[in-house]
Amino acid sequence: MTQATPAIIKDSITTIVDYPKPGILFRDVTTLMANPEAFQATIDCFINAYQGQGFTKIIGTESRGFIFAAPLCYALGIPFIPVRKPGKLPRDVIAQDYQLEYGEDVLELHTDAIVPGDKVLLVDDLLATGGTIEATAKLVAKLGGEATDAAFVVSLPELGGEQRIEKMGINILKLVE
Ligand code: PRP
Ligand code: ADE
Repeated sequence: MTQATPAIIKDSITTIVDYPKPGILFRDVTTLMANPEAFQATIDCFINAYQGQGFTKIIGTESRGFIFAAPLCYALGIPFIPVRKPGKLPRDVIAQDYQLEYGEDVLELHTDAIVPGDKVLLVDDLLATGGTIEATAKLVAKLGGEATDAAFVVSLPELGGEQRIEKMGINILKLVE
């Protein structure tokens, strides 16, 4: 799914060359977050796309995903569920390992955060290789829910994440490439 993206969103994102490693073009959304008009426009795009779509939970993935998922949950009145890096969630968790564009890690989800039949929207700032979102969708599936959609401020299609996620049957909304 695509929709017209206000120019202010794209213009407010900064690109940093060779961060955190040589060869990586880092898309820095902190400059978007520090621009209230751009941040509001971003959340408004997500609200327009997802209101009334029957989602029962919205997941934000640590850490930048939290920043975009939480205001959307507030606006739509849908529970916010955090997927976190290891050792951060205090109750029973399930875990999933995954590869990043520049490393590898594990993600965790509280075992009671998703129940069978949940229709889940995944929100993150950026889609690169798709490893993070694939791992998150697997965590949802392990608990009997279905992640049907994923929303990103930025997608880097050359890294293959879009194909990887679409192969899992997840619909993608991206605001900026
Ligand atoms: C970044 C970004 C996405 C992920 C995208 O998170 O916020 O979650 O990488 O990459 P992928 O599509 O290749 O998986 P990171 O793990 O760097 O954590 P952070 O948000 O805490 O900086
Ligand atoms: N996370 C993974 N790859 C990234 C990139 N190129 N820019 C910003 N965040 C990222």
